[in-house]
Amino acid sequence: MAELITADMVIHDVVTKHPETVKVFHGHGLPCTACAVGSRESIAGGARTHRLPPEKLDLLLKDLNAAIKGEPVSVAPKKAPVGRGIPLTMASGSGRKIKHVIAVMSGKGGVGKSLVTGLLAVSLRRQGYRVGVLDADITGPSMARMFGLSAKPTMLPDNRIRPVESRGGIKVISMNMFLGEESDPVIWRGPMVAKAIQQFYSDVEWDQLDFLLVDLPPGTSDAPLTVMQAVVPDGVVIVSSPQLLATMVVKKCINMVRHLKGTIIGVVENMAYFETPSGERYEIFGPSQGAELVAITGAPLLAQLPIDPQVAALCDAGRVEEYESSAYQLLAENFLNTLKIKR
Ligand SMILES: Nc1ncnc2c1ncn2[C@@H]1O[C@H](COP(=O)(O)OP(=O)(O)O)[C@@H](O)[C@H]1O
Ligand SMILES: [Mg+2]
Repeated sequence: MAELITADMVIHDVVTKHPETVKVFHGHGLPCTACAVGSRESIAGGARTHRLPPEKLDLLLKDLNAAIKGEPVSVAPKKAPVGRGIPLTMASGSGRKIKHVIAVMSGKGGVGKSLVTGLLAVSLRRQGYRVGVLDADITGPSMARMFGLSAKPTMLPDNRIRPVESRGGIKVISMNMFLGEESDPVIWRGPMVAKAIQQFYSDVEWDQLDFLLVDLPPGTSDAPLTVMQAVVPDGVVIVSSPQLLATMVVKKCINMVRHLKGTIIGVVENMAYFETPSGERYEIFGPSQGAELVAITGAPLLAQLPIDPQVAALCDAGRVEEYESSAYQLLAENFLNTLKIKR
């Protein structure tokens, strides 16, 4: 006999076990659950988010239970949104295999988003955490190069993919690993990019991780939006630089995260200053905007990172894991404190 679906069950678990329920959720006005946004909520929680009155929740539960028994349901089961409703395999029934999924975002390219992702991964790994990096910048991947990884990911049975492990033990997946030549361009249209991101997330055997850091594509366009919807991060770190705040891009980032009901866990000001060997600081890109970043995001400033030619050289050489810097150590400490993780 099929078990009864109750309001306290997590939506993700229900749709994973009973894919036929996706259409029922959708038919009852819970489209986000079908596209995995909010799918980690309970059914009651999802109903609250979508302002379903109690009687409608009862009806939803009745229909869900009817659907799993193959009985007719009261709503015309609308077609689930294309490419969505795919139950992600990462959040397993009894306990998630990945404790924290964190997306790193910036309003535009060249701000140092990938560098911050890579170095945050390195700092966390040095402290003994199990860390994965998902390079979701499909058309501008940089993680394989930064970690000096040229091996192809192993294909496992059932089309699962094993990520490539860095020398320091960080699991990495990046589009570069699937290209014949590193310089081959990825000239895909939106739906192909979306599919690749889905696969990087749900078809990769990430195993047990404390942190999966997701390097988002730059900007606030379709590509980062797709990732945010596919991956549903627990938190977002926004990377900015002193001259970026003058433009509207940081505000666009914030609005996008809020729109998706995400949580900004902190901001990082990159390229904040340059320090000479004798310790003099120069604010090359203008005065620091840290305080203003905090004011507009309402999230803590996790770090102000210096411009350091050495880090750029190490990244280019695939040796990011050899970089030592107190600024990045502080970034990781603040990051963990913000998430209230005690070692
Ligand atoms: N703090 C920094 N000091 C020196 N070089 C940096 C710094 N931040 C970023 N860079 C360099 O600037 C370039 C762009 O950074 P990247 O992380 O690729 O940006 P994004 O991912 O935002 O496009 C890279 O070559 C990177 O090594
Ligand atoms: Mg990048």
